[in-house]
Amino acid sequence: MTASKRVLLAKPRGYCAGVDRAVQTVEEALKLYGAPIYVRKEIVHNKHVVSTLQGKGAIFVEENEEVPEGAIVVFSAHGVAPEVHDQAKARALRAIDATCPLVTKVHQEARRFAADDYDILLIGHEGHEEVIGTTGEAPAHIQLVDGPDGADKVTVRDPEKVVWLSQTTLSVDETLETVARLKQRLPLLMSPPSDDICYATSNRQDAVKAMAPDCDIVLVVGSQNSSNSQRLREVAVDAGARAGYLIDYASEIQEEWLTDASTVGVTSGASVPDELVMEVLDFLAQRGYNDVAEITTAQEKLVFSLPQELKRDMKAAA
Ligand code: F3S
Repeated sequence: MTASKRVLLAKPRGYCAGVDRAVQTVEEALKLYGAPIYVRKEIVHNKHVVSTLQGKGAIFVEENEEVPEGAIVVFSAHGVAPEVHDQAKARALRAIDATCPLVTKVHQEARRFAADDYDILLIGHEGHEEVIGTTGEAPAHIQLVDGPDGADKVTVRDPEKVVWLSQTTLSVDETLETVARLKQRLPLLMSPPSDDICYATSNRQDAVKAMAPDCDIVLVVGSQNSSNSQRLREVAVDAGARAGYLIDYASEIQEEWLTDASTVGVTSGASVPDELVMEVLDFLAQRGYNDVAEITTAQEKLVFSLPQELKRDMKAAA
């Protein structure tokens, strides 16, 4: 007898409020000013979103120097260091800042603690754009702590004047472990005034934790350079799935992953449009996985308004 096949679908999954706002910012800028619109770095870390916007006339660049003087440039959801704003001004670029407001909040914390002369331990992944942007707020005060082992390398000026902050898209559990390791060495380490790991990151991880113990494998729709998607894959395996796979598209699913998999979990990172998840469900349905149950662990209602500079021009053009 063939084992029954079913899909568990995590909710919340996919687009968060910051990604939705960033993508809409580029779309509205294209409508308002016309193509091309320059975007510094990938607006969000998703291959499909980037190629769709390219198709509509967005040009993605790595640095401001690649943008013609006087042109419009959108800064990505991950945030930028103050010097990037200064470079844009020097080239007379019209910058629209699509930094997620929850990343901006971490920048503000970094500025405030640096102004009070704290040593800031920033928990995050080396080289990630968000970490580069946040560090740029106060490079002389910020040290990166990349995972629990990074805690052993930290040196501070005054153990009574140290605070930790973090990237918004980390593993909640690993960050707690890193903080615990830091506190063994620095018992007076201060915590951020409110959580830096954002609601979307923790909600998506919670949904996977609830779903994964009942899954044989978990498919995470998301790009390789998406931190929060990578974390979902790890959380799925830690929570009991025998394997987790990160895929951009349904076409990347390998048939052998489904061998002996009666329950397949599906989720997606915060930068992933739900149409890509629906394509995964279609792929699975064609292979007998017709029974789909959504596992809901939270309702999300947060919406961010578009950047002021864009709203002002939209209003003027109306
Ligand atoms: Fe913002 Fe969190 Fe999304 S920081 S961009 S709401 S993953």
